[in-house]
Amino acid sequence: MDKLRVLGGARLTGVARVTGAKNSVLKLMAAALLAPGTTSIREVPDILDVEIMARLLRRLGADVGHDRAAGVIEVTVPELLGHQADYDLVRRMRASVVVLGPLLTRTGAADVAMPGGDAIGSRGVDFHVAGLVKMGAEITSEHGFIVARAPSGLIGATIWLDFPSVGATENLLMAAVLARGTTVIDNAAREPEIVDLAHMLRSMGASIDGVGTSTLVVDGVQSLRPVSHVAVPDRIVAGTWAIGAAMTKGDVTITNVRCEHLEIVLDKLVSAGAMVEAVDGGFRVQATDRLRSVDVVTLPFPGFPTDLQPMVIALNSVADGAAMVTENVFENRFMFVNEMVRLGADIRTDGHHAVVRGRPTLSGAPVVATDIRAGAGLVLAGLVADGVTVVTDATHIDRGYPDFTTQLRQLGAQVDREVDQAE
Ligand code: UD1
Repeated sequence: MDKLRVLGGARLTGVARVTGAKNSVLKLMAAALLAPGTTSIREVPDILDVEIMARLLRRLGADVGHDRAAGVIEVTVPELLGHQADYDLVRRMRASVVVLGPLLTRTGAADVAMPGGDAIGSRGVDFHVAGLVKMGAEITSEHGFIVARAPSGLIGATIWLDFPSVGATENLLMAAVLARGTTVIDNAAREPEIVDLAHMLRSMGASIDGVGTSTLVVDGVQSLRPVSHVAVPDRIVAGTWAIGAAMTKGDVTITNVRCEHLEIVLDKLVSAGAMVEAVDGGFRVQATDRLRSVDVVTLPFPGFPTDLQPMVIALNSVADGAAMVTENVFENRFMFVNEMVRLGADIRTDGHHAVVRGRPTLSGAPVVATDIRAGAGLVLAGLVADGVTVVTDATHIDRGYPDFTTQLRQLGAQVDREVDQAE
């Protein structure tokens, strides 16, 4: 497992260009399964999760070409697809479960390994399964697999999600586009990545109304055609650089990003005392003084994204005052707080609330990245800590941030990557 050595004290300055969103690209790749032929996706980030999804699609019978330097993926899908997503891949990336809907609707069968628990909560798949059952699928759980069958195809249905789950909305949307009749997904998630997926599905020939709202109405069509699509920019990577710039009293211009996807985050940065201005194709974040604490409540989009919660905890750890951070999306997403405390942060958690009392400074120490976003939050904390912070298990961060170390260095951070010889 690689380690990142972060020397505290640098200001982040310069320009950071963001690529397409991981959380969109993985689903766009799965959506390619819906149409025989070659679908091409651009602005693909060079990250491990994309590689895992490519492996999964290959195993299902698709041919996947990946030009990493150009950021282009080409998925060539045969008429006849396999239908088994094995545990060795699903275990490594929970988002693999998003092939369930497309496979079932296209082939009438899907065997997808059950994703296990992970470091940020139990993350069930019950909404995915219940929705597909409403659409006429027979689903059982056998030997660690979700075994789904719909030999005569899926049928449109009205589905109400108990919670606007991103993955369930995507799986059901992809299932519905080739189902017979009309499907209504109510209380749907409306993250920008879902809007991006819906746009790609529409250009493939799908009929979807209500895109960007919490009610999606899908009229199933007979077949779809492959397309070329540019993935939506990664608002979480952009938000990470924005928070990092503000925390380090830096000055970073973030390009290839849409301000409207980060409105609440930028608003919080302004409340904390940073200056944010829109520039061509993105925004610029600057800060000169110590930030003020800001209360944050994570919620489905357009609320504050749970994926930026660790970064805002890092920000509050060195801000002036006390803040309450409330996590409403994932039950275990405060696990990394113990690592923040190792850096000297003053944080108390109680259930889904964390009270963060800002300290003038943190103190560098060895810590462990428990997941992608926790890892990025710890690195930001390391940037404002005295001395050296060594973040172990840094490969988690690579799953979500292309060229993380290089980007940080380009912004002026003193960061080195170490391969752990002991392991
Ligand atoms: C996606 C994102 C992740 C982000 C999250 C919330 C990807 C690859 N990942 O994850 O980065 O943090 O959205 O914005 O896009 N739930 C159930 N049953 C279900 C489905 C979900 O109980 O069938 C619960 C989960 O346990 C969780 C909550 O719903 O507490 C939200 O999960 P969901 O929106 O589905 O997140 P993901 O799609 O897994």
